[in-house]
This record gives sequence, C-alpha cells and structure tokens, in this order.
Amino acid sequence: MPAPARGRVIANAGRLFEKNKDTLSRLVTREMGKVFREAQGDVQEVIDTCDFFLGEGRRLYGQTVPSEMPNKNLFTFRKPVGTTLIITAGNFPAAVPSWYIIPALLTGNSVVWKPSEYTPAISKAMTDIFHAAGVPKDLLITLIADGKETFKGMEQALEQGLINKVGFTGSTEVGRLIGSKVGEFIQSPLLELGGKNPMVVMPDANLELVLDGATFAGFGTAGQRCTSLGTMWLHEDIYDRFLAAYAARIENEKVGDPMQDVLFGPMIGEKYADSHEHNLKMIAGHHQVHGSTGVGRINASNPRNGFVGDPDKGVFVHPTIVSGIKAGDELYYTETFGPLVGVGKFKTLDEAIELSNGHGFGLSSAIYTSDPNSVWRYREGVSAGMVSINNSTSGAEAHLPFGGNGNSGNGSRQSGIWVLDQFTSWQSMNWDWSGKLQKAQIDNEEVPHNPDFTI
Ligand code: UN1
Repeated sequence: MPAPARGRVIANAGRLFEKNKDTLSRLVTREMGKVFREAQGDVQEVIDTCDFFLGEGRRLYGQTVPSEMPNKNLFTFRKPVGTTLIITAGNFPAAVPSWYIIPALLTGNSVVWKPSEYTPAISKAMTDIFHAAGVPKDLLITLIADGKETFKGMEQALEQGLINKVGFTGSTEVGRLIGSKVGEFIQSPLLELGGKNPMVVMPDANLELVLDGATFAGFGTAGQRCTSLGTMWLHEDIYDRFLAAYAARIENEKVGDPMQDVLFGPMIGEKYADSHEHNLKMIAGHHQVHGSTGVGRINASNPRNGFVGDPDKGVFVHPTIVSGIKAGDELYYTETFGPLVGVGKFKTLDEAIELSNGHGFGLSSAIYTSDPNSVWRYREGVSAGMVSINNSTSGAEAHLPFGGNGNSGNGSRQSGIWVLDQFTSWQSMNWDWSGKLQKAQIDNEEVPHNPDFTI
C-alpha cells in the first residue's frame, strides 16, 4: 500500500477515535481509574497523533543529494524496519500505544502489540477501531500476556528473526532487561522508561502558577505518569511559605470517584497501591509528611477528609508530600509512580541544576521563574529530554519529541517527525549514469586555483 493510502487509513482511524471518544474515555476511567477529564485527554492524544501522521503519508520525504562526480545522482529513502513488537504500560492505555502504533503503520511496518494486563478492554476497543479504519487484521495483532511470557516470546521471536524493532514503555528495571536482550540481536529498542522529574522554583516565580502546576504534576493521574513530579526544589527564600500553601492545597483537594470532580481517583490496581506503600517506607526521620489525614490506603479506618464516593469501590491512597528531601535520600533516587511528591531546598541555581540531574533519570523537568537568565541556564544545564518553563512536568504535547536520557531511556524519541527514525531506516542510493566507473574520493578533478594568493 503506498504511503499516502496508509495516511488515509490513519485519517479514518482518527475520525473513528473522535466518534468513539466519549465511550473510549469512559472505558479508560472505568478500567484504569484516571479522572474522566484526563481520560478524555488520553484519547484526544490518539486523535492528535492521527492528525499529525495522516499528512506524513504524503510527505515521508527522502532527499536528493548532490554528488561530487558529474553525471551521477544521490538519493535517500526511508525503508520500513519490518515487524515491530510494542509493549506498553497501563497508565496511558490509549495515548502511549498510539504513539507507537500509528507511526509504525504509517511508515509501512506491521505491529504486534502487547498492552498492559490491566487494560485489556481498552486495547481490544482500540484494536477494533484500527481494524474498522482499514488496517489489515494481520498487520496489527494485539495479545495479552504477563511480563514473563512476553519476554520469553520476544526472545524467541528475536532468535527466529521475526521482529525487527521493539518498543517498550515501562520501568527502568524492565527496560534494562529488554534493552540488553534486544542488543544481543544488534537491534536498538525504542525505550521510554521511568523518571524522577524535578521542578525548580526560583524566588521570582509566580507562586500561584507553581501551586497549580505542582498540584497537577504531582497528583494528576494519581502520580502515575512517567512525567509526574518527583521532587520539587524550592529556593530557600520561599521554601516555608510555598510548602505551607502546597500542603494546604493538597489537604483540601478532593480525592475519590474519578467520574466526579476530583484531583485523582483510584490507583491502576493493587500492585500500584502496594508499591506506593512500599515507597512510603523510604520516609526517613529527617522528613516531614503533609497533604492528608493519613498515609497509605484510604479506607474506613484510615479515612481521607472530604473523600468523594465509596473508598471500598477502588484502590485509593492518600496524597503524600514529603518535605526535607536531600540528595542522599532513597526518595531522591527512586521513581515513586504514585501520589507522593518530595520537596527540598536549594540556595543557587547551579545547586538546583545539580539536584535536578544527580539521581540519574532524565525524562522531564520544569523551572518556574520570571528571569530569562535562569530559563536559559536551566535549559542548558538540565540533562532531561524535556524541559517545561513555568509549566507542569507532565502534559507534553503529542507532536514534540518525547523521551529521556540516562535511566529514562536510550535517547530514542517518540512523537512528531522524530519517531520516524525509529520505524524506518535510511537507505542511500547512488546512480552513476556517466557510462564509466567514477571512483569517489579518487577520480575527483582538482579545481585550478592559486593557494599563495594575497591581496
Ligand atoms: C507516560 O506517562 O508514559 O506528557 C506518558 C504527559 C502525557 C504522556 C505521559 N502526555 O504527561
């Protein structure tokens, strides 16, 4: 199928996702637990990705390149990599898979998709939509398996030469295993891994704006975004003032039924609540805890003030702010992937940059300031793949490069034109029509010139 025709299939898919947005968003909230507004955003990101790539079907440019020889032409072409294996997580059950599936199909590959075991109904619905849009059934195959079986299947498929690209969104720990296995087969995977995303607040920041940004970044999606706020670094001049305001804000936010107007709903599942409880054990003697009437699970014996709905109808946990974070702490180094935000103090921007990088992750980051000097110094100094200025660490738009460095990824990027290099490989072609053998670098004619000329 020619690329423009593939683009039309993506256009069909976009229209179908739009038509089914409400139903799919309800399913996202029901199966995964994020609040309905966010679920709509999750599905909207699929539509945005279709919008972007439908046109790419008519571009997918190669280049014409001048040759150093006469009567010879040079060209580049993008070639699909082949069969892709896409393994995705449960926190963005619609948007993140679409970042892989749509460009992979558009560039002429086939896809085997292994979604999260926590979101099989959404995956089934999405696959049905792609098929209804005209994607041949054998070009997009979705299967549910646990992590162990998936790894075994991936290994066998690699051994048999059946897959040519692996894309994975999930933990750094699993990414490391996948990356090393795929590397044995001389392939480079697309890895989108964890984060410990810093938010630096300079004394000249608009603190009202910071309050909104830190609330959404830290507790939106119950902190289960790879772009969620990890640690806030507050300048010492505003530390006490902002911490008090942040603690009060989170104490008063509504938590509960995700179909109501709440900050966040339940965790994706038991496993995520267990891991949140495990992370709470990293709170040390020099830390202070804020943000709720308790920590850990919300239930009848550990209630949350103003809880909306019935806490027994899902796996709910208290939002937790841990202040007094220092560079050596376990909480400084560990991605918590739940409603837990660390808060620490700094004196100089250089120190804030060091704190932003020192944990080894490098996905997202943010700085709040009104000084352009701080903006540019931070942008240059921070190692993260994404940096927000006066905005949340989460909520990246679907057509900018998405991805990280260090423990957050191997430098591969998703989204926009940048992901094309993941699902295609460049083929260069040279065509010599001079009728004789012209040897590059050897048969070139020297242009007569005077190397000793001065005026
Ligand atoms: C993720 O958590 O894996 O930038 C993706 C954001 C969302 C995507 C998050 N657009 O927060």
